[in-house]
Amino acid sequence: MIELAASILAADFAHLADDVALVERGGATLLHVDIMDGHFVPNITFGPPVVKALRPITRLPLDCHLMVENPDDFIHDFAEAGADMMSVHQEVCRHLYRTLQQIIDHGMLPAVVINPATPVDTLVEVLPIVHHVLVMSVNPGFGGQKFLPLALDKIAHLAELREEMGLNFRIEVDGGVAHDTVAQVVEAGADMLVAGSAIFSPGKTEQNAVEFLKIARA
Ligand code: DX5
Ligand code: ZN
Repeated sequence: MIELAASILAADFAHLADDVALVERGGATLLHVDIMDGHFVPNITFGPPVVKALRPITRLPLDCHLMVENPDDFIHDFAEAGADMMSVHQEVCRHLYRTLQQIIDHGMLPAVVINPATPVDTLVEVLPIVHHVLVMSVNPGFGGQKFLPLALDKIAHLAELREEMGLNFRIEVDGGVAHDTVAQVVEAGADMLVAGSAIFSPGKTEQNAVEFLKIARA
């Protein structure tokens, strides 16, 4: 199933619950929550209290994308707050396998993220234990950036590895995924689509989600 992970980075934070309800009605299957620390990426966003506040207001699983220098220090707090999935960047995990195991031990679905400059081949050893791989199609830190086509080859490469290795992890893509770029991303093999600015827009949010999924699932 092709999933839409609506990225709340583009939501109206003063009316977050309303925006979440709209994407849920529009067919989003996940809520993507971007955690930024101002060190790994040049921006600051949310912490565990926001995840905790979201948990009771939606049935959608919370897909937490940690863009922080020290993800190990936050596994416990995000699990307690109600995160369902936790993705950590390959670039900051010195003991990636251990970090992913700890995420599993805390009852969350583990995922690994790669920046545009990070090769897929650095992930081969952890593919058997991840729920999904997140391929960044922009440099992380901000919403509303232009899709980088280099992500397409990486998605296709991951789909090949999945086949060759007999695995069933999912492939998520994040950044610049919109109504005009989503078809090629699905064609390459992605099945979890993060979209923020393409979805959240005053008065159009629900319809944007419906139309996005129509294209993605065509
Ligand atoms: C970027 C974040 C994305 C962001 C995507 O660092 O990881 O999840 O919200 O935003 P759009 O869909 O606007 O490119
Ligand atoms: Zn993200």
